[in-house]
Amino acid sequence: MRPKISIIGAGNVGATAAHWIASRNLGDIVLLDILEGIPQGKAMDLLHAGPLAGFDVSILGTNEYADTKNSDIVVVTSGIPRKPGMSRDDLIATNAKIVKEVTEKVVKYSPQGILIIVTNPLDAMVHVAATVSGFPKHRVIGMAGILDATRFRTGIAQELHVSGKDVDAFVLGSHGDAMVPLPRLCTLNGKPITRLLTPEKIHALVERTRKGGEEIVNLLKTGSAYYAPAAAIMDMVDSIVNDKKKTLCCTVYCGKEYNVGGFFIGVPVKLGKKGVEEIIELQLTTEEHDAFQKSLEHVKSLVNAADNFL
Ligand code: NAI
Ligand code: 2OP
Repeated sequence: MRPKISIIGAGNVGATAAHWIASRNLGDIVLLDILEGIPQGKAMDLLHAGPLAGFDVSILGTNEYADTKNSDIVVVTSGIPRKPGMSRDDLIATNAKIVKEVTEKVVKYSPQGILIIVTNPLDAMVHVAATVSGFPKHRVIGMAGILDATRFRTGIAQELHVSGKDVDAFVLGSHGDAMVPLPRLCTLNGKPITRLLTPEKIHALVERTRKGGEEIVNLLKTGSAYYAPAAAIMDMVDSIVNDKKKTLCCTVYCGKEYNVGGFFIGVPVKLGKKGVEEIIELQLTTEEHDAFQKSLEHVKSLVNAADNFL
């Protein structure tokens, strides 16, 4: 039997994630939204692309949670995106209520599933979903670090005129201005980029990574990024359903790891069939450690704010 992947929210990110997931034949897809007709129409349109694009998974659009029953993975993208001038954190009041309601319905039908949370502000929404679901922590995972890292990788590749596939990067911490890109551990074919680029150039690339989401919001004006976020979701789904055990930066529950003390924050993890199978502990320099701690403080303040809606 093929894996069953439900996507809640058939907007830009949800529908594009369905597209990427279908194009790789990763599993049967259920696309659910509160809006009537939208998930059904998008699912039908995507299904019609199958014979041309070479996929044959089933794709169902629906407004009914019963259709998500026994999903292996549920991706939560429901919620509002930011507009120019807004930070991700400004979305908390609206999106916490949506993620709470959605999680309650999702877990009723897929008590053994793995949750991938995408809605912003990401760090707080993962906390909401984990609290409401009561799922074991290895089955609640936030998507952010892969997106931030692919932005960093792309910037480096453009600068060095190489393929982004040959660039490896880690971005830890919260999903926002306090994220922690790690240039020291960023490599091109194993060679540290600190030997290939000047400190000034690296600083500029780090800043552009931090502001990548905002740059796109300011260009789009009516919403936020979705192609790269959806590709990041696909990467996570692929590693889980195919038990690839890829190392990916995701927002996961850290207890003793990185001395976090019980919060969801971005760190490198091994993703496999069971969800988070291992947290990879990198040795951080004092400067990196301090930046991570600052990021953790931001996560804690977001979690405090989110608790008002639980
Ligand atoms: P969108 O507005 O295109 O789609 C959101 C969809 O959610 C809409 O179709 C809406 O009808 C649906 N929705 C709202 N309330 C719902 C409910 N109660 N039940 C089911 N569906 C509901 O927004 P987009 O661009 O798809 O972004 C979605 C969220 O993902 C935003 O919060 C955005 O900030 C976040 N995001 C997070 C990223 C990350 O790196 N973690 C990257 C990109 C987006
Ligand atoms: C981004 O970084 C919207 O959080 C999303 O583009």
